[in-house]
Amino acid sequence: MSVRQAFRASILHCIADPGESGDKSAIEYFDDGLLLLCDGRIEQAGPAERLLPALTPDVPVTDWRDKLIVPGLIDCHVHYPQIDMVASCGEQLLDWLERYAYPAERRFVDAEHAAEVAGFFTDALLQNGTTTALVFATVHAQSADAIFSAAERRNMRLISGKVLMDRNCPEDLRDAPGGGLRESQELIERWHGQGRLSYAITPRFAVTSTDAQLRAAGQLAAAHPDVFLHTHLAENRAEIDMVRRLFPQSSGYLGVYGDFGLLRERSVFAHCLHIDDADRQAMHSHGASIAFCPGSNLFLGSGLFDLRSASAHGLRVGIGSDVGGGPNLNLLKTLSDAYKVLQLNGQSLPGYRALYLATLGAAKALYLDDRIGNFASGKEADFIVLDSASSPMVRRRLSRTQNVAEKFFALMMLGDDRAVAATYLMGKQAWKAA
Ligand code: GUN
Ligand code: ZN
Repeated sequence: MSVRQAFRASILHCIADPGESGDKSAIEYFDDGLLLLCDGRIEQAGPAERLLPALTPDVPVTDWRDKLIVPGLIDCHVHYPQIDMVASCGEQLLDWLERYAYPAERRFVDAEHAAEVAGFFTDALLQNGTTTALVFATVHAQSADAIFSAAERRNMRLISGKVLMDRNCPEDLRDAPGGGLRESQELIERWHGQGRLSYAITPRFAVTSTDAQLRAAGQLAAAHPDVFLHTHLAENRAEIDMVRRLFPQSSGYLGVYGDFGLLRERSVFAHCLHIDDADRQAMHSHGASIAFCPGSNLFLGSGLFDLRSASAHGLRVGIGSDVGGGPNLNLLKTLSDAYKVLQLNGQSLPGYRALYLATLGAAKALYLDDRIGNFASGKEADFIVLDSASSPMVRRRLSRTQNVAEKFFALMMLGDDRAVAATYLMGKQAWKAA
């Protein structure tokens, strides 16, 4: 017997990319709406006035009437092992890795530590309204096991993978030369396609892999076309110089990944700050995606992402927190950083476009838009309930907005985890504010 349920609230979701103009025809909004679910999937979203009378009395209606329901937020790039060193002061990328990231990741040699952090991290995602994430683990296979287990227990859709690195990093965080692939293969067999989980082959970045390891990663990817590839690209000037020195035979940073078969559909490249139109064209023609990580790019002083050029090339772009390079797991705060980064680049980010980057756009970047990202019929019912009175400041400002575009924009600029009243995974409440 199928189980139906309904949620009454204001409902907002994207049906297309609103673009830099924030085109209203790309969204659907029901001021007094009803979200109807069947067996944890969306049946339909529409006006309560039309849908309520047709409901049979056995269907429970959860009343969130003064709140706003939007699709669950999707974080396209985050490092769970870095949650304990987030917001550490003073370095740019390469020194920051040595000083903060590697020491934190070293602790994941201990499976118990990995399990504890993975549990905290997945709960923190839910508390922040993030229902799906593409997650870096560490070089230790058990760190991937830990995050997959934590997500599985919560029925979260999540993609992760063991990090591959075999040079230019601390000895005790290295795969054997050219190694790490057998473990990746085993993790794919164990987790990929298991429930809501998917695997990402995860070379950290070109700097920390030998040619042999990247080649082997490309071969593994070729054997598993529906597995993801997750790495960093063109984040920092010193990093780019190093890649040029390490791979003189490649045409550029993206060229390194291309040369080893790592540029393809389901390849997600974090940052992409210092790229050109030839790179954008190559990424587009291969179906690769970008994780735009504005909080991290500001925090590590890496640079300003050019969203307009990425969009002009038809690229798939989703938002990423990049914790711990980014100082905040909260995607509302990350979107507010995105707005500021784009302002510094002479570009804009209207509220609807911001919502798209964290929902349907992110789902497209992860090739999951047939399952999540909006309230189209049949999709998995991952959604969050936003509170427009979560603090005195938010209440005051939002009470003076004229429409939902203004409301979402002000919420993303002023809001934080307190704005998330509840988080649902496949129709089941996974988190609720006290
Ligand atoms: N590039 C290689 N590793 C990392 C990392 O852990 N964080 C960020 N932001 N960039 C990286
Ligand atoms: Zn990162």
